[in-house]
Amino acid sequence: MNNSRVIVSLDFPGQAETLLLTAKLDPKRCRLKIGMELFTRCGPPLIEKLIRDGYDVFLDLKYHDIPNTVAAACTAAADLGVWMLNVHASGGREMQCAAHEAISKHSKPPLLVAVTVLTSMSQTDLDEIGMNSPVDKQVLTFAKMAKETGLDGVVCSAQEVSQLRNQFGVDFCLVTPGIRPDGASHNDQKRVMTPAEAVSAGSDYLVIGRPITRAKDPLESLMAIEKEIRDNA
Ligand code: C5P
Repeated sequence: MNNSRVIVSLDFPGQAETLLLTAKLDPKRCRLKIGMELFTRCGPPLIEKLIRDGYDVFLDLKYHDIPNTVAAACTAAADLGVWMLNVHASGGREMQCAAHEAISKHSKPPLLVAVTVLTSMSQTDLDEIGMNSPVDKQVLTFAKMAKETGLDGVVCSAQEVSQLRNQFGVDFCLVTPGIRPDGASHNDQKRVMTPAEAVSAGSDYLVIGRPITRAKDPLESLMAIEKEIRDNA
């Protein structure tokens, strides 16, 4: 059984590069995240292949549409056998309820989490689209709605984890990108936490891309992250 907290982000343009990496990893030691780029290029066959290879797949397509359309997309994702999928919290209560209802009816329901406020959005960006609450308050509002509508948790910044964990308890799943092991390049990430810090703060799953995907030995890098969590969290 896979109890890894690490979700490796497959930010690759195609199948060949993806499979080169996944062949070097171990489905018992990590899970995989497929986002818009890879899905748009390779679609369901790649997901099915990775699931056949034994991997848990987080389909990160951030659905945001009318409730009926999002519910149908969630069912389609569940039919593919993904382990986790997500919707934008800003799609609203009715949309989240429809997504939850669709997933709940499924014979093998995936985890369903909501994206709160994208960490790329500044307060100025939020003001410009008419979201006038401070970012941290907006994140709480979205997380509260996700909890109330029966979703399993949220994707959030590691900086927000301890507050959300305190407020929403142990059963609320917190998924955090922006993770960098000690000494690793930050690349374009601005506010980062180490794996151990994020887990100590209350994160359940860590989305980690380049520190693993660009490592000379990806499995070794993954194992070093596991060790860092074991020793320090
Ligand atoms: O390579 P790196 O570890 O920075 O990859 C992080 C992954 O998490 C990327 O797929 C990125 O798009 C995603 N992500 C993020 N910050 C968010 C939401 C998603 O870095 N707020």
